[in-house]
Amino acid sequence: MASPSQELPKTHRALILSSTSEPPKIKDVPAPQPGPGSVVVHMLSANILSYQKSIYNGERKYPFPTPLTTGMGGIGRIAAIGPDTLTLSPGQLVFVDCFVRGRDDPNSAFLLGIHEGHTEGSRKLMHGEWRDGSFAEYVKIPLECAYPLNEELLMGKLGYGVEELGEIARDLIPFGGLSDISIRPGETIIIAPATGPFGMAAVKVALAMGTRVIAMGRNLSILQRLQASHERVEIVQITGDEQADLEKVKGFGTIDAYFDISPPVAGTSTHFKSCMLALRHGGRISLMGGLNIDLAIPHAIVMHRDLLLKGKWMYDRQNVLDLIKMVEIGLLKMGSKAGQEYVKFPMDEWKEAFDAAEGFSGSNRSAVLVP
Ligand SMILES: NC(=O)c1ccc[n+]([C@@H]2O[C@H](COP(=O)([O-])OP(=O)(O)OC[C@H]3O[C@@H](n4cnc5c(N)ncnc54)[C@H](OP(=O)(O)O)[C@@H]3O)[C@@H](O)[C@H]2O)c1
Repeated sequence: MASPSQELPKTHRALILSSTSEPPKIKDVPAPQPGPGSVVVHMLSANILSYQKSIYNGERKYPFPTPLTTGMGGIGRIAAIGPDTLTLSPGQLVFVDCFVRGRDDPNSAFLLGIHEGHTEGSRKLMHGEWRDGSFAEYVKIPLECAYPLNEELLMGKLGYGVEELGEIARDLIPFGGLSDISIRPGETIIIAPATGPFGMAAVKVALAMGTRVIAMGRNLSILQRLQASHERVEIVQITGDEQADLEKVKGFGTIDAYFDISPPVAGTSTHFKSCMLALRHGGRISLMGGLNIDLAIPHAIVMHRDLLLKGKWMYDRQNVLDLIKMVEIGLLKMGSKAGQEYVKFPMDEWKEAFDAAEGFSGSNRSAVLVP
């Protein structure tokens, strides 16, 4: 078989950030080439975070090396394989996972194109062999970060578009935390805040896992829309009155678990305590929010009620495999089947795309780049 890498162009277009003090620019740069342990993927649809802009303008203070090809995960086709690739082949549809773990140290993890992680090892990997994200025509990723998708089933029988399949990246984050606290069918779980992109994804995923959801957030109209579009969803508005909100949550009976996905600006919100105090004996908490301040924990309650409190950054490899199976059997719906609409932007319109992604937070719309 001719080496597929020969089919890669010499250069490709990529959205490159040189420094957080100036906007990224589209540049023609050498196309990545596969080596041992890697594949090169031709990106078809690249996901955009609601806060992608605030990562690259330095507002979020995410650490990463520059120059950096921006981007996160998405959907693409294998363009070229490395010499040790056994199961993937050129042309194959894959989910591109931007969450990379060190092969000889899985605790050294980082996000391609976004965040260099928190260990010396993760920094070494992102400053070295692995760095660039998916806002580019081609992306080189570790072999194990390319998850094959059953195209015939997902795009043929189930009729999904590539951008809809990109929702896998978004749903995986709450799935990581929900799985980590062993959510079981029949349980009641609080999702807070439930009105942002990952919060809404958490509601969808928790329902697919067979739970009843208590969706909490400040915006009542978004909560009401969530309740109207799903079965098994109760809603509680975060009013800032910790005790009143607690009583409302307790009104729904036994609460088994609480999943939190707060942004940094919600660090002082009253809902953390209302939610923790509402849990039953032995209840579980998953903290996945991006707080950059410390949180006061109701220690006596956590101790006396045997509460389990876990943090989770992203997800594990098994979560990715499990979630793809949930999509394939129709348990977890994507895109229009889940009421989500995708707006596609060509890479030249990256600025409009970032603004749209931010503006779509709390709506049923998502923006994607088509590199
Ligand atoms: N652990 C992980 O692996 C992981 C992975 C990805 C993201 N994250 C974190 O998850 C966070 C949420 O992401 P996202 O994309 O869903 O949305 P986001 O745009 O970062 O945040 C929007 C959500 O936060 C709520 N919110 C904003 N200010 C608030 C406040 N003062 N009090 C209570 N709620 C407030 C919004 O509700 P309103 O409608 O009331 O404004 C909305 O629900 C991110 O900021 C990131 O830090 C963690």
